[in-house]
Amino acid sequence: MAKVISIANQKGGVGKTVTSVNLSAYLAALGKKVLLVDFDPQANATSGVGVDPRKVDFGSYHILDTKIPAHEAIKPTNSLGCHIIPASFDLAGAGVELVNMKNREFRLHDAIIKVRTDFDYVIVDCPPSLGLLTINGIVASDEVLVPVQCEYYALEGLAQLLETVNLIRENLGKDIDILGAVLTMYDKRNRLDREIAKEVRRNFPGYVFDTMIPRNVDLAEAPGHGKTIFQFNPLSHGARAYKMLAEEVIKRTS
Ligand SMILES: Nc1ncnc2c1ncn2[C@@H]1O[C@H](COP(=O)(O)OP(=O)(O)OP(=O)(O)O)[C@@H](O)[C@H]1O
Ligand SMILES: [Mg+2]
Repeated sequence: MAKVISIANQKGGVGKTVTSVNLSAYLAALGKKVLLVDFDPQANATSGVGVDPRKVDFGSYHILDTKIPAHEAIKPTNSLGCHIIPASFDLAGAGVELVNMKNREFRLHDAIIKVRTDFDYVIVDCPPSLGLLTINGIVASDEVLVPVQCEYYALEGLAQLLETVNLIRENLGKDIDILGAVLTMYDKRNRLDREIAKEVRRNFPGYVFDTMIPRNVDLAEAPGHGKTIFQFNPLSHGARAYKMLAEEVIKRTS
């Protein structure tokens, strides 16, 4: 039975998608069967693994309606061992459509239940908000992984997300753990980055992954080529960091 891990942070541009795509790629490279679910209408994870969101017949939007079973939306990616339920641009309307649906917080959870047995990990890339899409992503998961960019308001953002997960647990009765926070776009030469990394570790002891994702131009360029960092430049600092993160995730979840 797959572990479902949502990659969430309501703040935009902190590295959720880069982490979803490259963590998935390295989990697969380490022999795990991975399903990436793109749950962001921007569809960046979808194009990041070489799938064109404009050509998606069935994707994460369609499986929210019980008429389309999840297995019909699963496509191969350019990484061996990694499949995707892609996002299509009509997912943008789902945030509003979900409001009037029955079990509106559990639609993704219920949709992927049947395919969980086929994978070791399901990784859900959430959009930058705390709306119903993100809530569906979190409710669908066993664990939440929070990318945290090394910047001034990182602590507030992380605290708010942890509080949201607590509220979901209490109000919806769903057991969800925090897998951890991973520091992203870290520049060790920058004093502010070093201080923020230290502060996050001090304020959230035990939560923060040892692995830090460095600021690395290859990680920013790979998606433009529809490639993961494993395919684009496996010798880069960014690639090595995501491999270490994947190993740490496997250790923390087994
Ligand atoms: N470690 C890194 N080094 C350099 N650039 C990075 C790194 N991680 C992410 N980026 C770049 O930063 C930008 C934001 O990253 P990403 O899209 O993963 O964030 P996000 O949290 O998914 O954003 P959104 O909230 O819009 O979904 C992108 O342009 C990406 O290429
Ligand atoms: Mg994103």
